[in-house]
Amino acid sequence: MAKVKLATKVDSDVLVVGVGISNSKLQILSGISEVDSTALLINLNAIGATGKVDEVIKLPGKTTKLIVFTGLGKIEPNFSPELLRRAAGAAARELAGNKSAAFALPHKSVVELSAIAEGAALGAYSFTQFLGSSKKEQKDPLSTVSVITKFADTPAAKAAARRAEIIAEQTFLVRDLINTPPSHLTPDSFCLRMKKEAAKYGVKVEIINDAALKKGGYGGIIGVGQGSANPPRLLHVTYSPAKAKKRYAFVGKGITFDTGGLALKPAAGMEAMKADMSGAAAVIAAVFAIAQLKLPIAVDGWAPLAENMVSDSATRPSDVITIYGGKTVEVLNPDAEGRLVLADALIKAAQVGKKAGGLDGIIDVATLTGAQAVALGSRTSAVMTNDELFSGQFLTAANLAGEAFWPMPLPVELRASLDSPIADLANIGDRMGGMLVAGLFLKEFIDPQTPWLHLDIAGPAYNEKTAHGYTPIGGTGIALRSLVCLAELASSHT
Ligand code: BES
Ligand code: MN
Ligand code: ZN
Repeated sequence: MAKVKLATKVDSDVLVVGVGISNSKLQILSGISEVDSTALLINLNAIGATGKVDEVIKLPGKTTKLIVFTGLGKIEPNFSPELLRRAAGAAARELAGNKSAAFALPHKSVVELSAIAEGAALGAYSFTQFLGSSKKEQKDPLSTVSVITKFADTPAAKAAARRAEIIAEQTFLVRDLINTPPSHLTPDSFCLRMKKEAAKYGVKVEIINDAALKKGGYGGIIGVGQGSANPPRLLHVTYSPAKAKKRYAFVGKGITFDTGGLALKPAAGMEAMKADMSGAAAVIAAVFAIAQLKLPIAVDGWAPLAENMVSDSATRPSDVITIYGGKTVEVLNPDAEGRLVLADALIKAAQVGKKAGGLDGIIDVATLTGAQAVALGSRTSAVMTNDELFSGQFLTAANLAGEAFWPMPLPVELRASLDSPIADLANIGDRMGGMLVAGLFLKEFIDPQTPWLHLDIAGPAYNEKTAHGYTPIGGTGIALRSLVCLAELASSHT
């Protein structure tokens, strides 16, 4: 993870500046006077630079070894924080192989500075754990990013730099876990890794193993996990500061691999199902980040973990399971497994939240449906809710975080499609509106008095296309930043 520094002058042999377009002309924007634009623009025009977003050009510098131009697109009087975050991230990604870089990008406030620091830190990522003979050819990501700013000496800027480190550290944990293949990531190893991390942040950990799950009546987690040689777990982490202003529960889908079970998925594309634990990783790492930031918000993180496999002990279509708390579900499709493990965890999270004095909100995060990606594509996630006010707050937080979320309805008329002739509920309903049907299934396990958000991140969790901005190929870490921002917003309210 890169160290984030602040400086008023260029302190690296690599300098990153912005380049944009105004009236069809390239223009360099650095926020510092040391850059001689005229000479540089001649070179940039000569090599056909466009200044478009995600274009990164490296040239030998005059005062530094390298001068790097990151595209800002059309020049605006104020660039949005997310545009700056992405521009910094794109440059950081291209600078692997260098030790450090100084980022001189235009900004007028600490909010924008914060985005630049975050983007630069988030772009300095690589995942090399599984490289063998080719590891030595791999270029290491930046180990220091230095943000050039006139705010360098202010407490707000210093806090923003530290925050960027924390966000990057926890996002990298999420990305690493997503990228780790199921040969090396099981429900148990996920728990052990998180337990090790939690110890660093003073976060409490409880691991409920398969025997305890069976005994406790967690029929969803057991049912989904029973086809696998790698037994399921329910991981629970708690950050509970004195004088907390609010208490939230975050619940993340933790399927370490989703074959579809006896409703076996087609081979083509199944490899992406190693990312089916993205929600679990995001919620647990979000609790760590909130603890590191010492926010006055209590949070429980819950990760129901299972491997959805095919075997003689796998759940059969038509099997009936009993969710924690007593609701029965007819499993018509073992590939609709996420909602089953989440159902157990949602009931448990509410129960534990109630004992702790009540929850101000419960949020589940899941790579729940292919329909999510069909509806919103691979970069926009969905929010469903029983509380418009809470979802409004969340959307504000997501917008500040620079994560794209879009509200989706939970139409009552779709609920009947989940009726089962023999159990309280079936695990699948209408195929049309599949994302919403999944949300309606989860809603059955929510106390109507508790504000609830269901975040379906199926598309955005895993980037199968090309890297862009601060987003690498593979696990993205989506949802973590929005959850942290929500806790920050809640901290600043009385
Ligand atoms: N993990 C998948 C959803 C998914 C698909 C995530 C593609 C990311 C990319 C989930 O468990 C699943 O298989 N859902 C089914 C539900 C259906 C059987 C009702 C789906 O979306 O097809
Ligand atoms: Mn599935
Ligand atoms: Zn799944």
